[in-house]
Amino acid sequence: MIDVLIIGSGIAGLTAALSSSKNNSKVLVLSKTFPTHSQSVQAQGGINAVLYDNDDSIETHIEDTYKASCHLANKEHIKQMCQTAKESILWLDSIGVPFNRTNENKIAQRKFGGTKKTRTCYSSDYTGLKILHTLYDKCINENITFKNEHLLLNLIIEENQCVGVTALDIKEGIVKEFLSKTVIIASGGYAGIYSNTTTNSYSNTGDSIAIAYKAGVELSNLEFIQFHPTTLEESHILVSESARGEGGYLLDENSCRFIDELKPRDEVARAIFERNQKNEKVYLDLRHLGLNKIMELMPQERKLALEFSNIKIEEELLAITPAAHYSMGGIKTDINSQTNIKNLYACGECAQSFIHGANRLGGNSLLEIVTFGKIAGINASEASKTAYHKNIVNQELIKSKEEINALYSYPNLINFYFEKERISNLLFKNLGLFRNKSQMDLLLEELKKLKLNLKEMGIGDKTKSYNKNLVEFIEFVNMLDVSILVCLSALKREESRGSHFRTDFPASNKDFEKASLIKKINEQIEIRFEDIK
Ligand code: FUM
Repeated sequence: MIDVLIIGSGIAGLTAALSSSKNNSKVLVLSKTFPTHSQSVQAQGGINAVLYDNDDSIETHIEDTYKASCHLANKEHIKQMCQTAKESILWLDSIGVPFNRTNENKIAQRKFGGTKKTRTCYSSDYTGLKILHTLYDKCINENITFKNEHLLLNLIIEENQCVGVTALDIKEGIVKEFLSKTVIIASGGYAGIYSNTTTNSYSNTGDSIAIAYKAGVELSNLEFIQFHPTTLEESHILVSESARGEGGYLLDENSCRFIDELKPRDEVARAIFERNQKNEKVYLDLRHLGLNKIMELMPQERKLALEFSNIKIEEELLAITPAAHYSMGGIKTDINSQTNIKNLYACGECAQSFIHGANRLGGNSLLEIVTFGKIAGINASEASKTAYHKNIVNQELIKSKEEINALYSYPNLINFYFEKERISNLLFKNLGLFRNKSQMDLLLEELKKLKLNLKEMGIGDKTKSYNKNLVEFIEFVNMLDVSILVCLSALKREESRGSHFRTDFPASNKDFEKASLIKKINEQIEIRFEDIK
């Protein structure tokens, strides 16, 4: 039997795979896409760590992270991450991540928002991609087994213990079960629910959040979605924070700078969006940096701007706009990456590990997923050594097969692609950078109506192998479920804090200095707030 089953092959999943394999566990990585397609590549600008004796310190990194979280993070968890940050970077460096270097051959660092310190290590503007590829190479060298193109369907939980999952083998069109002593969910976040206005890839549909919820796993702080300040107009392709970190300006239509470009992302994004709402454009100005610096430090941004906006950033202003980028909430985990279900762990963006709270600092996501990927891997591997499995008489496989078969019989009277488009626009409008009760009530009503109408939707393509239509319908159902949970959490938090800005409650309220917790209890959605400890 597998010791550690990992769902997801981004940086968190691959780090977990390496650390459990090093601890002599038999590991299987199950993934919807191929590792190199993972969303981790969108963390372009860098990874934070205090590396050298300069004016920075681990304490300042801890304080910056906690301050940005608006008091919704756990300081012990942050300490864990920041105190081991140097070790994490040196490990990545040792396995071959090509960090940019200074003339003294030190790892180069740049400024990112939310701090006055220079602590973001980088590989030009390809940091996530380079880390991902290096980890994947290492996994291949370590003979870690991968099963790609498998869509997670259900968690198998017996007596409050996770013993495996069911998944759709996309290539064969068959539902399969994967039993394992322990399971780590590392399948990414849910900002992709804003499918028309997001930096996330098409495959980032929050599947594991919806599936974990159905299985009774506790979720937390779902209302906190980070909107990245700078994405290309129309396509919403990310323009990395490194552009501002390296000295880029934000200009309004009168060519005036209107905000400190390196304030935390929530503040910068709102300042831009307020102008966009008045039909005013906002531009990123990189012209003064010159072509050489741009080519050295942000070649990807140059390429994307040219390809998708037809703009030469060394010569012209680049129109930008905010878009959903990152989910701070997710599967609630403790400092050991353990969920409320025995032998079930979560790490990476799908996990709410109490690091980012209400607002994440750029450069901390890569650090978090490496830190907690490693922790999840070691702890799951250790737990697998004593995990006891009685003979599983498993109903979940039968149930999952029936669920998929049922989808083939839906009449496909309503086009779900059209509904996905419509709901994504409504999500951005009513549950976006600014939100209020009446907007969210309206959205919730629409989401619930859609859920009731699911049986009128379905798929036109009834084939088995590589049925994209089927996969996208399952993803759509998951997105709908996640959207409802996010909306309910946002309605419940009657205050503004970090990325959650309510126009009907524009101030922070000390009573809400707590984490929201959402869980299925007796088929009902229960939401409450709990102290962060
Ligand atoms: O702007 C960026 O490069 C994104 C980085 C991140 O999400 O941490």
